[in-house]
Amino acid sequence: MKDYELFVVARSVHVLAVVIWIGGVAFITTVLLPAIAKIVDSEQRIALFEQLENKFSVQAKVMTLATGISGYYMLDFLNAWQRYQDLQFWWLHLMTLIWFIFTVVLFVLEPLFLHHWFLQQAKKDAEKTFAKIQRMHQVLLTLSLVAVFGAVAGSHGYF
Ligand code: HEM
Repeated sequence: MKDYELFVVARSVHVLAVVIWIGGVAFITTVLLPAIAKIVDSEQRIALFEQLENKFSVQAKVMTLATGISGYYMLDFLNAWQRYQDLQFWWLHLMTLIWFIFTVVLFVLEPLFLHHWFLQQAKKDAEKTFAKIQRMHQVLLTLSLVAVFGAVAGSHGYF
């Protein structure tokens, strides 16, 4: 496979992984969490959410890896590292920031302490903890959607 063909494949893998990953975040934020809030008692919400999200967590980990590897390959192919010094490429900064946040949450914070922390917090105030989880998802989804919009527009010459 020629280098350029590999670059096109990396771009396709990048977008595919982003669709599965951010699509999942959108579903959790706009459908799953509001549904849980509506139909389950506040005490049981966190436990149910964790059970349901567990499966997505594996998917999200794989997709985060695929997005990072393909993104790194594209940056290297384009020899575009200097874009990080230019605010015009804010969408690249935002993409990288989102990738970093998810990577830290999925691979470090969640396995180490986030799970226990949420359960502890939920024992103190279940309602407030669930609201916090919802707000975190809303913020991350909004940032991710802005990044997708900016990345497509930016990659195709808008900015
Ligand atoms: C370490 C993390 C990441 C790196 C290094 C990276 C790098 C890149 C690069 C180099 C491009 C191509 C730019 C160009 O053609 O000029 C790109 C495109 C893109 N990235 Fe990322 N990215 C990362 C994470 C993300 C994340 C988290 C998202 C989603 C929230 C995302 C969404 C996109 C989209 C939608 C495109 C546009 C594809 C197209 O229209 O052709 N990326 N990325």
